[in-house]
Amino acid sequence: MYATYIFPRLMDWVLRGERFQTERQRLLTPAQGVVLEIGFGTGLNLPHYPRTVTALHTVDPAPLLPDRVACRVAQAPFPVHIQHVSAETLPYDDATFDCAVSTFTLCTIPDPVMALREVRRVLKPEGHFLFLEHGRSDDSAIARWQDRLNPFQNWFGCGCNLNRRIDQLVSEAGLQLEHVDRYVLPGVPRIGGEMYRGVAARNGTCLASKPAGNMST
Ligand SMILES: C[S@@+](CC[C@H](N)C(=O)[O-])C[C@H]1O[C@@H](n2cnc3c(N)ncnc32)[C@H](O)[C@@H]1O
Repeated sequence: MYATYIFPRLMDWVLRGERFQTERQRLLTPAQGVVLEIGFGTGLNLPHYPRTVTALHTVDPAPLLPDRVACRVAQAPFPVHIQHVSAETLPYDDATFDCAVSTFTLCTIPDPVMALREVRRVLKPEGHFLFLEHGRSDDSAIARWQDRLNPFQNWFGCGCNLNRRIDQLVSEAGLQLEHVDRYVLPGVPRIGGEMYRGVAARNGTCLASKPAGNMST
């Protein structure tokens, strides 16, 4: 009941807040060509993709708020192809995408390294992965609280984890980190607001432009 009816609405309401929209816009500025988004959720990134995107393919095992998603998809200026599958086994050929995106999703995917290996596989050699995630604090006192509260967050957030080191997961999957910005999201308690915003390359080539805006927020 909670997971099907309450959580998707709560998630959509929280994650479409003004500050989150600014964060999405910043991250997605360099997205271009044919893009893969893992953990599509309720489509909150759609209005923030730039005009350089020609098509969007999305995966998410859960069909969340389908009416809201349909409205958002209808307003997108590019074709959107949705598949209800897990990111750990992507149904695409190798080297399909120019860009891949994950926002607030690596916290929840049961096997994030496997999903990121799949992302790497389906990216073209010159492709890039853009990510915006909350995760483990560098402050050991905060990290300890994240560990303690993780079981509650797991239930309340339907599988969400507070304590994953996102940059390490990305590297472990063989993607080359080009940069990572670490900051605390204003107005959010540090246990849930420790942010990782970054770009990783399929093959270690440099992306012409970094996510826009002040990177040391
Ligand atoms: C907190 S929501 C974020 C949604 C969206 N990315 C956003 O930024 O608003 C996490 C999403 O990850 C999805 N998810 C969970 N397990 C997944 C998996 N194995 N593969 C892909 N997505 C998954 C959930 O269904 C949910 O939509």
